[in-house]
Amino acid sequence: MVLTDKNVFEDGIKRIIISEEEIQKKVSEYAEFLSKEYEGKPLLLVSILKGAFVFLSDLTKEMSIPCEIGFMAAKSYFDSTDSSGNVQIVYDLAQDISNYHVLIVEDILDTGRTLSAVVDILKQRDPLSLKIVTLLDKPDRRVADITADYTLFTIPDYFVIGYGLDYGEYYRNLPYIAEYDENLIN
Ligand code: IMP
Ligand code: MG
Repeated sequence: MVLTDKNVFEDGIKRIIISEEEIQKKVSEYAEFLSKEYEGKPLLLVSILKGAFVFLSDLTKEMSIPCEIGFMAAKSYFDSTDSSGNVQIVYDLAQDISNYHVLIVEDILDTGRTLSAVVDILKQRDPLSLKIVTLLDKPDRRVADITADYTLFTIPDYFVIGYGLDYGEYYRNLPYIAEYDENLIN
């Protein structure tokens, strides 16, 4: 889909479920908490593109300890007969992670299949520790056996947009989390 019409764009935003203020407040709290947890440790924040880019940006700006950041991108191929799925890493970290405490920064934990595959791959590289912080969790949809170590907001099974999350690559730039109007899905 190519979207250029501002009115159509706005029609997709059904209602705000987490405001910009609520997000910023919670991100600040977690930035402070994580800065204490990882103080004095070599820390690498690993973000899975693209959805987590806004969360990663806001979180790191509020952290008060030294940290490095890295990016990965994964492509998932799932079909109804294979619930384990097939995840391919299409962009990988440049650095050796064996001397780092790795914290995966994720936008949303949904079925968990993508993150579960990424965790398996990173574990094989033997980091000092490996944890997950996710902005959103939709536990109702979980298929893979995975839980985040830190979750900022738990939400029901809505399709959400904004603050990095997209529908058809749009809406990532909204400063809040909204429910997408499913009536527009064709
Ligand atoms: P999983 O492998 O099903 O957990 O997929 C997680 C990925 O699917 C997330 O990183 C998002 O990019 C995308 N995703 C899952 N739920 C939503 C949603 O409600 N809105 C937008 N993207 C979503
Ligand atoms: Mg997406």
